[in-house]
Amino acid sequence: MQPMVEALDVHKVYRTGQRPFPALRGVTFTLQPGEFVSVMGRSGSGKSTLLHILGCLDRPTSGQVRLGGMEVSRLPARELPALRRSKIGFVFQHHNLLPSLTALGNVMLPLRYSRISTREAQNRALALLEEVGLADRAGHRPAELSGGEQQRVALARALVNEPELLLADEPTGELDSQTARHIVGVMRRLNRSRGQTFLLVTHDPTVGEAADRVVEMLDGRIVGPKAAVQGGERPAHGLEP
Ligand SMILES: Nc1ncnc2c1ncn2[C@@H]1O[C@H](COP(=O)(O)OP(=O)(O)OP(=O)(O)O)[C@@H](O)[C@H]1O
Ligand SMILES: [Mg+2]
Repeated sequence: MQPMVEALDVHKVYRTGQRPFPALRGVTFTLQPGEFVSVMGRSGSGKSTLLHILGCLDRPTSGQVRLGGMEVSRLPARELPALRRSKIGFVFQHHNLLPSLTALGNVMLPLRYSRISTREAQNRALALLEEVGLADRAGHRPAELSGGEQQRVALARALVNEPELLLADEPTGELDSQTARHIVGVMRRLNRSRGQTFLLVTHDPTVGEAADRVVEMLDGRIVGPKAAVQGGERPAHGLEP
């Protein structure tokens, strides 16, 4: 089976500041279909940069990115939106909801170009809002929602087109621990039932504990995948029990 994601020696240099800044310095990693993986690392280590590149929202300065075996880092820009809509769900660190649309309207947005009917789109969006505990907020605009509620709307929006790959940047960053546990449970259930692949950037131990493995970033590099250990101590050999 093809890996879901392959990043090969990915570098990203930002040239927006006074001098070039290397935010990614040779990232190589693979995500198999159906994996549920979290990325941890301190602020500024390049986590969001990596997620944006894997989500085809930005391009690497050098290196390769393959999704399902397809080399995407060289695709023309005009082909990327359709690819994103068909394969990828993305939860932004800062939600990025459209302020003029209701929660329901925001969740339905990715289905705008799909062939399903408006009614079906609405039903799917409502079902997801229900899953994330917001059925009664469907008619609220983002400004009428709390930060954590906006975050859950953003997750529902990312899941609505049933993407093969869900990339989420701090999906529980604004949630209390009980709500975070619920949301992680929703994602893990979808991961198991639909076989969707999840890559979650997080500082939240709840997410880390639920993950199949944790990838750690430091200064633009991956410094070692660690096996996730559920609730207990890490065994001396460092492998899953
Ligand atoms: N557009 C940009 N132009 C210049 N530098 C940038 C840009 N975006 C990010 N950076 C820099 O690249 C580094 C990595 O940023 P990134 O957003 O990937 O970090 P992060 O690991 O997601 O951090 P956090 O946990 O705070 O969200 C940071 O030092 C940041 O200042
Ligand atoms: Mg970030």
